[in-house]
Amino acid sequence: MSKNQSFRFSVAPMMDWTDRHCRAFHRVLSRRALLYTEMVTANAVIFGDRERLLGFSAVEHPVAVQLGGSDPQALAKAAVICAAWGYEEINLNVGCPSDRVQGGNFGACLMRDPELVARCVAAMKAEVAIPVTVKCRIGVDEQDPEVALDALADAVLAAGADALIVHARKAWLQGLSPKENRDIPPLDYDRVYRLKQRLPDVPVSINGGIASIDEALGHLAQVDGVMLGRAAYQNPELLLEVDPVIFGEPAQHADAFAAIEAFEPYVADHLASGGRLHDITRHMLGLFPGRPGARAFRRHLATEGVKPEADLSVLRAAVDKVRRAEARREAGRAALVA
Ligand SMILES: Cc1cc2nc3c(=O)[nH]c(=O)nc-3n(C[C@H](O)[C@H](O)[C@H](O)COP(=O)(O)O)c2cc1C
Repeated sequence: MSKNQSFRFSVAPMMDWTDRHCRAFHRVLSRRALLYTEMVTANAVIFGDRERLLGFSAVEHPVAVQLGGSDPQALAKAAVICAAWGYEEINLNVGCPSDRVQGGNFGACLMRDPELVARCVAAMKAEVAIPVTVKCRIGVDEQDPEVALDALADAVLAAGADALIVHARKAWLQGLSPKENRDIPPLDYDRVYRLKQRLPDVPVSINGGIASIDEALGHLAQVDGVMLGRAAYQNPELLLEVDPVIFGEPAQHADAFAAIEAFEPYVADHLASGGRLHDITRHMLGLFPGRPGARAFRRHLATEGVKPEADLSVLRAAVDKVRRAEARREAGRAALVA
């Protein structure tokens, strides 16, 4: 399996969202969640600016890198580089439907070519000791998911894949945008459960439309892991429940206020090294959902946090707006009771 126990709960790879600062922020909310990078192509790893593409902070562990590609040798080379950077797992993208990715013959269209995906996995496995996992769909276009998912799973497992993460819907490669491909093809969780029943010894994680930790727990009765994407990004406070509810360990922080305070040194380091506050706070806009002051928090970060000179005081002032709004509400309640 992914030897990593954290496989039980992960935050999905999301382009432009799960960058290193997002992951560092998520890490203060959960010690245990496995965090995935954005997809990076094998060629970018080999030929690109590695510090920019692969650099991460030690606080982020456990962290997995997701690779895109379909050339076994290039993927193997990239995997070696990623393992040397300290990633805990290499994940291969067999789920992205974008035109650019299809043009490069990787991502979801590889659901049609299990044998090639198997060669990619085998090439990476031959070169690295860390787990190599595959994130796929249940099928594409007119494929029958009963056949397509089993064919892909069997091929990559025979090649040595350590675990499977299944986005429980098809991708439609013509006519839908990547965004529509995350919502329109219907979810079929039962198909993923059946995969797990057929492969009891293989770690299987389920992904797609999981909105809460309660829902995640329901899935964990059927499969080994859950992967949350948008819900974790858009409502990061749910990650505070991961350690106690999913792993039976104390939460790292009592609430979002405490987590943000603990995150300040990371933010300060980033600013001291010439980075901008917004690089980090753009990932924090989903905090305090539905709470009084949440809009003022977001507005303050969106207007003040984007200024080049913005520093920690901007983040503190934004948080203060929530504290004050909550205090006002409490005072109002107390006055009503009195
Ligand atoms: C903004 C965004 C970017 C994404 N980028 C990737 C990616 O790079 N690699 C990948 O495998 N999936 C990517 N996905 C898909 C997610 O990993 C996940 O499979 C999908 O959002 C369904 O899970 P969810 O309903 O929990 O969000 C992306 C999703 C979003 C919203």
